[in-house]
Amino acid sequence: MPDIAALACALPKAELHLHIEGTLEPELAFELARRHGVTLPWRDVDALRAAYDFSDLQSFLDLYYAGADVLRTRDDFRDLTWAYLQRARADNVRHAEIFFDPQTHTARGVPMVEIIEGIHGALLRGERELGISFRLILSFLRHLPESDALATLEQARPFLDRIHGVGLDSSERGHPPSKFRQVFAQCRELGLPVVAHAGEEGPPSYIEEALDLLQARRIDHGVRAVESEVLLDRLAREQIPLTVCPLSNVRLKVYAGLEQHPLRDLLARGLKVTINSDDPAYFGGYVNANFVACVRALDLGADEVTRLARNSVEASWLDAGRRGALLDEIDAVAQDWRTAA
Ligand code: HPA
Ligand code: ZN
Repeated sequence: MPDIAALACALPKAELHLHIEGTLEPELAFELARRHGVTLPWRDVDALRAAYDFSDLQSFLDLYYAGADVLRTRDDFRDLTWAYLQRARADNVRHAEIFFDPQTHTARGVPMVEIIEGIHGALLRGERELGISFRLILSFLRHLPESDALATLEQARPFLDRIHGVGLDSSERGHPPSKFRQVFAQCRELGLPVVAHAGEEGPPSYIEEALDLLQARRIDHGVRAVESEVLLDRLAREQIPLTVCPLSNVRLKVYAGLEQHPLRDLLARGLKVTINSDDPAYFGGYVNANFVACVRALDLGADEVTRLARNSVEASWLDAGRRGALLDEIDAVAQDWRTAA
């Protein structure tokens, strides 16, 4: 039996939905706590890991924001990002478009310059030493008022040469994209491409708002599109990428099990679906763990995993040259696998 999971792992891929704060492994959280002389509310690494038992998005976010408290200096952000990049390289991630949530940190008094210099410095090193190209996406927190997002955009202005796009995340229910019309209009005027979390816990109408009001080019999650035939047809017709995060959806109880996940049906319907890890330190694995779990639970074939890898590159913001080179590499790995199988 040819091992589809091995093919999935070997394929070059892009990761397009990754919160850098969600890559904070318990070991690093304790190391940073020691670095700053802070006491975490968990006894040890095992106790922290045991707390990763979520009932929904909010229960996760409460812990995620608490954990972020150990991120204080540019060295912390650099170490966090570098640890992610090494794991990504091991999973054959060749391009990463990562989110950061500045408001989580600036609200605690961490200067924007520390956050951006730390993350960006590690991304440059990752490009040089690991061959991972990157884009950095500033994500606004939707549970806060739009005025807060507008102030954050002002704070980010001196660093716009290092920010390639903007996103929208955090607690979805009750915080529709329409709440952020103005700030995203300003971002678009600055030439920043827009993505938005929508349809993770929120209704399909939030996906439509993200597309129509914010002019989002990709939808993060988007799985609740399955509730609207009209929307599914649109997403397929317009080839709007969905950055799906299967293990996240199961951990946050969007689905009772991966067997119930609509990823395979969305793919079959022609939607531009990608697989991503979201907050891998909290949800049980990085991008290859997501691929392997989907291969097993949904019985994905070689064509499907190759399509998913191709989609990730096609949905990225890479320029045509590197995009074409990565697509060729994907096809070569798939071809080698077929020859060997
Ligand atoms: N959804 C919304 N906000 C987030 C997530 C997510 O999956 N991860 C980190 N912030
Ligand atoms: Zn997310």
